[in-house]
Amino acid sequence: MDNNKSKFSVSPEQLKKQTEYADLVRTVLASRFPIEPPKAFVHTYGCQGNVADGERLKGMLCDMGYVLTDKVEEADLVLYNTCAIREHAQDRVYGNVGALKQYKTAKPDMIIALCGCMMQQGYVAERIRNSFRYVDLVFGTHVIYKLPEFIYRCLCTGKRVFDITDSDGNIVEGLPIKRDGAFKAWVPIMYGCNNFCAYCVVPYVRGRERSRSFDDVVNEVELLVKQGYKEINLLGQNVNSYNKDLSEEYRFPALLRRINAIDGDFIIRFMTSHPRDCTKELIDTMADCKKIAKHLHLPVQSGNDRVLKEMNRHYDREKYISLIDYAYQKMPELSITSDIIVGFPGETYEEFKDTLSLIEYVKYTSLFTFIFSPRPGTKAYDMPDPVSRKEKGEWFSQLTALQEKVAGERTAKMKDCVYRVLVEEEKSDGILSGRTEGNVIIEFPGKKELIGSFAYVKVTEPKTWILKGELYESNERI
Ligand code: SAH
Ligand code: SF4
Ligand code: F3S
Repeated sequence: MDNNKSKFSVSPEQLKKQTEYADLVRTVLASRFPIEPPKAFVHTYGCQGNVADGERLKGMLCDMGYVLTDKVEEADLVLYNTCAIREHAQDRVYGNVGALKQYKTAKPDMIIALCGCMMQQGYVAERIRNSFRYVDLVFGTHVIYKLPEFIYRCLCTGKRVFDITDSDGNIVEGLPIKRDGAFKAWVPIMYGCNNFCAYCVVPYVRGRERSRSFDDVVNEVELLVKQGYKEINLLGQNVNSYNKDLSEEYRFPALLRRINAIDGDFIIRFMTSHPRDCTKELIDTMADCKKIAKHLHLPVQSGNDRVLKEMNRHYDREKYISLIDYAYQKMPELSITSDIIVGFPGETYEEFKDTLSLIEYVKYTSLFTFIFSPRPGTKAYDMPDPVSRKEKGEWFSQLTALQEKVAGERTAKMKDCVYRVLVEEEKSDGILSGRTEGNVIIEFPGKKELIGSFAYVKVTEPKTWILKGELYESNERI
C-alpha cells in the first residue's frame, strides 16, 4: 500500500545497527552486573503520545538487559521522558533532575538520561549541558530508536552523549514495546503536527505530520485484541488528518470502521480530534460503529472568533457549534470534552465571556483548562500580553466554577442509569473504579477479579466528577 513510508521510514539497515548495539550492551551489562540484572527507572511526562514513546523506550531497555524498577533510588539508569507544552511542565523536570544529583553522588556509575519534547529545544539541552553536569545522556524525539547506541556510548566511553538532531520526523516500526497496562493500549496512528497554533510548541519539537501505514495500525490492533486488550486508544495530535494525502479508503473514518470490524469485545477511543478537520463523516462513523466509545474530545481553546483567529485554529465558533449540534443530533448520549486556554495574549474579558457562553451551550462532560504559558519560539511568545497573571487566575476560577456546575447537572441526570464500564483498578479495599464510555469515572463495590473486564454498573449517587454506583450485572451473568 502506498504510504509515507519512503519519506519518513527509518531504514532497515539503521534499525539493524541498533539491534547490534543492543546485543553489545547486553554483553557489557552481563559482565558488569553478574549477580543481578541492572535496574532502570523510566518516568514519562506529558501526553499519551509521549507515554507511547515511553513504552518503546522501556521495551528497548528490557531488550538490552535492564529490568524496570519504580524506585528511583535503586536504579542503575534513570530516564526522564519529558514534555514541553507549558513552562510549569518544564520546571517540574528541572526540579526532578536536580533531585537526582544526590543519587548520582552516592552511585557515580548510575546513568542519568533525559529525552522527549523538552530536550528537543536547543536552549534546554544547553542548560542541561552547562548547569546539570551529572546528566550523562540527552536525546530528542527524532532519535529514540537509537537508545541502544546511546547507552553503549555512555557505558563504554564514560563521555556525555547529546543528540538532539532536528528533523521533519520519522516513523519507526518494529521497536520492542513494554506496555504499561494489560488491558488499555496506546496506539499512535500518526506523529507530529503541521498546524502551528500560535501558542504551541508541539510542531517544533515533534516535526511534521506523518501517518503510520493503515496496515501497520490494523495489524497492531488485531494483535492487541488477540492478547486480550479491551480498550484501544488511537493517538495523534490531529487524528482527523490521518493519511489525508491518500484516498478516502485509507483515511481516519475508514481506519475506525476497519478497526471496529475486528472480532472481539473491546472499545475504541481516539484523541485528539482537531475541530478544523473534524467532519460529519467522522461523527457518522462514531454513530455507526458499536465499538467506538461515544466520547468526543474536541478541543475548542476559545469561544471567541478573534481569539481563535489569532490562535491560528482555522475554525470559528459557528463551525464548532455546527459540529456539536450535528454530533448531539446523531448521538444524544454523546459525551464531549475539550481543552481551553485562558488568557491568550490580547484576550479581553469580553472575549473570554464568549468561552463561558460556549461552555454553557455545549455542556461539556469535563474540560482540561490551562492558563496561557508563553513558549519560546512560538508566535504567541512575542505577542503583547497586557492582562496580569492575577486577573487571568480570576477568569480561570470563573471558568472552572461554571464547568463544575455544568458537569454536576450532567452527572445528576445519570442517576439510576446503567453503564457498561471497563473496570480499571481497585481504589480502596473492595471498591473498584472504571470509566463509562463517556469517560466518566465510576466507583462501586466489587471483586478484584473484575479488573480488566467490562461490567454493568448502576449509578446510585452521582457526584460532580465521579459517579458512585453498584454492580448491575457482571460479565459472567450476561
Ligand atoms: N493537538 C491537540 C492539543 C495538544 S496540546 C489539539 O490541537 O487539540 C494539549 C493542550 O494543551 C492544548 O489543547 C492546549 O489547550 C494546551 N496548550 C498547548 N500549548 C499551550 C500553552 N502554550 N499554554 C497553555 N496551554 C497550552
Ligand atoms: Fe499544538 Fe495546534 Fe498541533 Fe494541537 S494542533 S499539537 S495545539 S499546534
Ligand atoms: Fe508534551 Fe510533547 Fe506531548 S510537548 S503534550 S509530550 S507532544
